[in-house]
Amino acid sequence: MSDLPTSSLLLGVNIDHVATLRQARYALMPDAHNAEPSLLAAAHEVEAAGADSITVHLRHDRRHIQDRDVFELREKIHTKLNLEMGNTQEILDIALQVKPEFVCLVPENRQEITTEGGLDVVSSAAALERTVKTLQDAGTKVSLFIDPDLNQIEAAARVGAEMVELHTGAFANAAPEGGKGELLLLKESAILAHSLGIQVNAGHGITTTNFPKLMGVPHLAELNIGHHLVSRAVFLGLGRVVRDMKTMMSAYGFSVPAN
Ligand code: PXP
Repeated sequence: MSDLPTSSLLLGVNIDHVATLRQARYALMPDAHNAEPSLLAAAHEVEAAGADSITVHLRHDRRHIQDRDVFELREKIHTKLNLEMGNTQEILDIALQVKPEFVCLVPENRQEITTEGGLDVVSSAAALERTVKTLQDAGTKVSLFIDPDLNQIEAAARVGAEMVELHTGAFANAAPEGGKGELLLLKESAILAHSLGIQVNAGHGITTTNFPKLMGVPHLAELNIGHHLVSRAVFLGLGRVVRDMKTMMSAYGFSVPAN
C-alpha cells in the first residue's frame, strides 16, 4: 500500500464528449453495428482508471447522449451514475425510470454550446423543490448546479437539495493568472453550503492546470470533469488522463494550495 494520504475527493468523469464524437459520424445511423467510439467502453476505461462515478447530460436536443445510452450505462457501469438534466417533465420521467444514484439539475438553454451558467434557484424554487422531492422519493440524491452565489446556496438549502455543484467556469476562464475574486466566491460558497449541511461538489472547466488553485476551496466532496479529460485523452488515452487527475486530486486536503 502507498504511504501517501488518501484524499476523499471523488472524481466524476463526464463522458458526453465521447458521445459527441460518435454522433458526429453516426447520428443518423443509431443502429450502425460499427458506431464508434463506444460510450460503454469509455465508461469502463475511466472506471478502471479510478473514476468514482460516470456523469452524462441527457439534453433536450439529444445532441450527444441518447436515451439508450443512459439505460445501458445504468445497467452496465460498475460505479455510480450521475445524470445531469434540465428540469423538464420529459427528462424527469426518464430519470425516474433509470433511477441514477445522483441527478444534477442544470439550466438548459437550447442555443448554448455547453451549460453556461448556474440554475436560478431563487426564482424557480417551487418548480425545483417539486423535482428534488420527486427524485429523492425515488431514491436519487439531488444536486443543483449553481454559480458560487450565497443567495443561490441558501435557496438550494430551502428547496431540500442534498448537494450543490458549484459552477467553476468563471474561475476556470480567469485562471491560471487571474481568478482570485472567482476563487474567493467559490470558497465563501463552499463554507456556507457546508455549514448548511449540503455536500459541495464542483465542475465546469476544471483542468490539471487550474486544479492546484482550486485546492484552496474547502469542503469539496466531488469534482465533475469532462471536456479537459476527453481532450487530453486524444493524445494520451482515457486511462492515463483519469489516473493523472486522480493523482493530483489525492493531494486535496493535505497540501498547501497554490493561491
Ligand atoms: N458539471 C456540469 C453541471 C456540467 O454541465 C458540465 C459540462 O457538461 C460539467 C460539470 C463538466 O464541465 P467540463 O466539460 O468543462 O469539464
